[in-house]
Amino acid sequence: MPRTYILSDIKIAPFVSKGSDEYVGDGIIVVDGGTIGFIGDANDLPQQYRESEVRHLGGRLVTPGLIDCHTHLVYGGSRAREFEMRQTGASYEEIMSAGGGIFSTVNATRQASEDELLTSALGRLDNLIREGVTTIEIKSGYGLDEDTELKMLRVARCLGEERQVRVRTTYLGAHAYPKDMEADDYLSQICLPTMEKAAAEGLIDAVDGFCETVGFTPSQIERVFDAAGKLGLPVKLHAEQLSDQGGAALAARFNALSADHLEYLNDEGIAAMAGAGTVAVLLPAAFYALKETKFPPVQKLRDADVPMALATDSNPGTSPMTSLLLTMNMGATLFGMTPQECLEGVTVHAARALGLDDCGRIKAGMRADLAIWDFSDPAEMSYRMGDAPLHKRIFGGEPC
Ligand code: NIG
Ligand code: FE
Repeated sequence: MPRTYILSDIKIAPFVSKGSDEYVGDGIIVVDGGTIGFIGDANDLPQQYRESEVRHLGGRLVTPGLIDCHTHLVYGGSRAREFEMRQTGASYEEIMSAGGGIFSTVNATRQASEDELLTSALGRLDNLIREGVTTIEIKSGYGLDEDTELKMLRVARCLGEERQVRVRTTYLGAHAYPKDMEADDYLSQICLPTMEKAAAEGLIDAVDGFCETVGFTPSQIERVFDAAGKLGLPVKLHAEQLSDQGGAALAARFNALSADHLEYLNDEGIAAMAGAGTVAVLLPAAFYALKETKFPPVQKLRDADVPMALATDSNPGTSPMTSLLLTMNMGATLFGMTPQECLEGVTVHAARALGLDDCGRIKAGMRADLAIWDFSDPAEMSYRMGDAPLHKRIFGGEPC
């Protein structure tokens, strides 16, 4: 059991989001078992903690443990050959239409054993953990058949047992449909029944889809969302990544937790997301890897008060990325987000994109999931490239 201790001589990252009531300054944090017992000025330390052990941190920055709220971390194989093809002119859509892309990862994932999937995903997860990640979302979607989708979800859950990290699983059966089937038949015969089965086995925390010319139409996504609603599962959507399909507005209509990618998001989608409180999850590494030239409308999202999260989108095709810190750098450098927005994007807004209200902030009563850094200025987090100066994580009160 984690004990009670005081983190002292620290900088606490400021949170300036509207409505935020976080403590800002050089205070102290009390870790009380698995939760935050107190945060604030040392002079205001509640009586019950006055005898607790004090740990001096030499002026280091403390942030909430980081949250990677959009990943496809579990998969078989590699797409390095396709990377080569893209370097010589083939587009992502062309490769997928020719049976590669998501389909080549589906083949490799179907062939891989649970152990093989676990081992390869652990390597990627460890990279993220080394950078202070304490919560990660992991999607299925490289199975497109019942056995493989369930296998991926079990491996995702298992990752949370193998490491001190919290895993949230998302069912992405509507990622693609097998070449020999119509999309609607795939939904009726495989995707939706598998979703019910996975939900019954407690393997799903949310449901996602890929609304795109090379994915599913808005009305097909609606079928998926209707079915998720019947199971009481929240939804999110890969929307407006390669073209404007009106996916974000559709997601907002279903009170989606998030709409993700959003390079081709239109004004109507922004207004709908603002109205529904749907988080915009921006994925700059996929933008970078696809050499996309259309930027997500960051200024308009800002103006509309749509919360913006940042995530790695770690996947073998569009984002072979396992660094959330480099993702923050890309959010700043490519998308023009401020270092503060980048920090909030991997903490408070990322938590909201997962429907979690007990992490992503440092507040009394919340989980004691923290990251302690070897610097004191939060801007260092998105300023550096290829450097992960994490001093320590605290996960559920346990230093690790
Ligand atoms: O988030 N856009 C769809 N899904 C993934 C890519 C999947 C793949 O290419 O394997 C994404 O970019
Ligand atoms: Fe994705």
